[in-house]
Amino acid sequence: MARPHLHLSFSTAFCIALLILPSLGAAVTPAPAVTDESKVAPYSLPDPLIAGDGTRIQTPAQWRAKRRPELLELFSKEVYGRTPTRKLKGVHYEVTSKDASALGGRATRKEVTIWFTKGNQGPRMRLLMYVPNHVKQPPPVFLGLNFGGNHAVDSDPGIAMSELLVVFPPGEPLPTSPRGTDRPLVERGGQADRWQVAKVIDRGYATATAWYQDLCPDRVGGLDENVAPLFAKGGTEGRADDGWGAIGVWAWGLSRALDYLETDSSVDARRVAVHGHSRLGKTALWAGAQDERFALVISNDSGCGGAALSKRVYGETVGLINKAFPHWFAKRFRFYDDNEAALPVDQHELLALIAPRPLYVASASEDQWADPKGEFLSAQAAGPVYALFGKSGVGVKEMPPVDKPVGGTVAYHVRTGKHDITAYDWEQYLNFADKHLRARPKSGNP
Ligand code: GCU
Repeated sequence: MARPHLHLSFSTAFCIALLILPSLGAAVTPAPAVTDESKVAPYSLPDPLIAGDGTRIQTPAQWRAKRRPELLELFSKEVYGRTPTRKLKGVHYEVTSKDASALGGRATRKEVTIWFTKGNQGPRMRLLMYVPNHVKQPPPVFLGLNFGGNHAVDSDPGIAMSELLVVFPPGEPLPTSPRGTDRPLVERGGQADRWQVAKVIDRGYATATAWYQDLCPDRVGGLDENVAPLFAKGGTEGRADDGWGAIGVWAWGLSRALDYLETDSSVDARRVAVHGHSRLGKTALWAGAQDERFALVISNDSGCGGAALSKRVYGETVGLINKAFPHWFAKRFRFYDDNEAALPVDQHELLALIAPRPLYVASASEDQWADPKGEFLSAQAAGPVYALFGKSGVGVKEMPPVDKPVGGTVAYHVRTGKHDITAYDWEQYLNFADKHLRARPKSGNP
């Protein structure tokens, strides 16, 4: 049979190309960010309690059996990409240092390398832990990835420097400049303000962290390096449309850190608060949504692709984030560039996946790029799912004023100031954890 002769006018072909190109992730210029509240266009949010087939979810059992898996599937397929479920065979742990007199004797510092393959040549993540010495029972843990390397989270000279180690799949030629586009490493203690290690210890919590780039270097080529190729090759552009992005890899790493904590009797792995700032806040939310072993989840200024609603189209948008960071999300997410109305989910449903576990969402007043109001509205809109479990949501109708935390099982604050994680933020997280994870504070310390 002869092939039908297809004749398209130039304008028809152009229109078809316009329709197809965004779905292929072609480089179109996304619309600029809206940062004027009066310019926010009307939008509507999907109801987290209405299942794909239109049925209304009325019980926790229905949520668990039907809606939760459905939403996880949508976030996996359309937003972050699928997290591989295959267990790596060669995973093993190596304690590389232990010092019971760290921080002037207040804590035990431990460094543990989590090797993801047999031997000690393959991808690995180096976990740094501080465990308070004054607590008798294994304490709860704050677990989060860090931006600047483990040595940046405290000025403690005993922390090994996180040098960059890029592990390429065997047999592939090394790029000429593997270090080319990495962020410069931060100096020792350079991000100590963001970690408040001594304060966390004095309040009776352990803290554990690893450098996020151990898992997936944060650049377009990062998906060709370290963890991702252990599961599939293809990198940022060659992966499947629903293949995981860097946020997925980082979130996977948080679960692997939790696997280790489960083997460490010096801490209580059933009381782990997973937290993160900015892109690592997006990561903490995705980790907490997928892995129900995390007992509490904290999002600090996570913004677009984190706590902020996408359909509100304020500040950073789906188009802008995919353009700047093509390796963070699934390729499929690019279909929603400047097309957020078509998304079958929004980020309040990511927050709802954390229910009924305690969730803290925090914003900063000057961080309009991350859309503080969109983060608040999202936390509020997760409320009905918490209510289904008899748990309280943010508990207010309007966004609270700056520096006035609100909420119950879902808490929220907008702090005065810029995009950052500060002592004020930590104070709220510790109070929240005290309420929900019941730590034992050091006597004499509040
Ligand atoms: C950029 C990006 C944000 C992200 C932030 C960060 O500003 O646009 O989405 O949260 O970097 O991680 O620091």
